[in-house]
Amino acid sequence: MRAIVIGGSGQIGGWLLRTLVEAGAEAVGTYATVPMPGLVQLDASNQAEAADWLRSQRPDVVFYPAGFTWVDGCERDPIKAFASNMDEPLNLARVASETDAKFVYFSTDYVFDGLTGPYDETDLPHPLSVYGGAKLAAERSLLNELGELALVIRTSWVYGPERQGKNFAYQLVKTLRAGKPLICPSDQISSPSYGPDVARAALAIVEAGEAGLIHIVGPEVLDRVSFAQAIAKAFDLSPDLIEGQTTHELNQGAPRPLRGGLKTTRLDSLKAGMMRSLEDSLADFRETLLRSDGWRDPLST
Ligand SMILES: NC(=O)c1ccc[n+]([C@@H]2O[C@H](COP(=O)([O-])OP(=O)(O)OC[C@H]3O[C@@H](n4cnc5c(N)ncnc54)[C@H](OP(=O)(O)O)[C@@H]3O)[C@@H](O)[C@H]2O)c1
Repeated sequence: MRAIVIGGSGQIGGWLLRTLVEAGAEAVGTYATVPMPGLVQLDASNQAEAADWLRSQRPDVVFYPAGFTWVDGCERDPIKAFASNMDEPLNLARVASETDAKFVYFSTDYVFDGLTGPYDETDLPHPLSVYGGAKLAAERSLLNELGELALVIRTSWVYGPERQGKNFAYQLVKTLRAGKPLICPSDQISSPSYGPDVARAALAIVEAGEAGLIHIVGPEVLDRVSFAQAIAKAFDLSPDLIEGQTTHELNQGAPRPLRGGLKTTRLDSLKAGMMRSLEDSLADFRETLLRSDGWRDPLST
């Protein structure tokens, strides 16, 4: 398999590249603004140039764990949100389809309104935010236009070792180690998802020849404060400085689904047991950092 990972410098992209290489695939990853060894620079907003480059690669599969992922930033800049999360992946998906390559797009539980989560693949989306709206528009365009060549993976609250060190677990560990309070929403509920398992499951689904829409998340559905406490415990940090506030009190820039999270009905029927528990995942997170395999260690920065 020859795979391209657009967004190889990101969290999920980094794990996809590693998983692909371990599986014996030929994999080329890209970065947009954060150079990393072995990655090729590609800015998907230069649509013609990006299309030419992808065409020259002749991939069997293109993974797209990329885009404008800052939810409050998307609310402020809807034009960029739709360009980055819909138009640019669609441009490259069309190129991939010229040679019958599969296109794998990463989406979110923010396509739902969070009134009745966790949701499964058959539930009707109703996004509250610009980010969720752009992701849903992309999902629909890709599935309509590409048919069996499109795979849309929804995930949520992704954490784990990463090279940029941006995810919630890193923010939490760094904040608590600095002796500062970590304020997080007490009433937002979702499905924490371990990055390495998301990547492994994504590849297994592609190798199984699956298409369409699938949810890939961890097995627990819990609130952000409980998630934060579990991370603190795994990193031997006191949870005393974790402080919950309601979404109303926090006044975030974009509305959030409160009772979100995803059910993995389809993943379980196809590849049961791919996603480890939060406890096992956090233990693996610590062990992986000890191997200092290029991942940033939140305890050492
Ligand atoms: N993380 C989560 O909790 C979560 C939850 C649900 C869904 N998702 C979805 O999963 C996907 C991956 O998430 P992530 O957390 O791995 O994201 P991430 O760590 O923020 O990485 C985003 C990647 O996109 C690249 N990128 C940004 N603008 C680009 C452009 N114009 N052209 C090409 N590449 C560009 C970035 O490159 P540089 O860093 O080099 O600029 C980076 O590699 C996203 O689509 C997100 O919506 C994530």
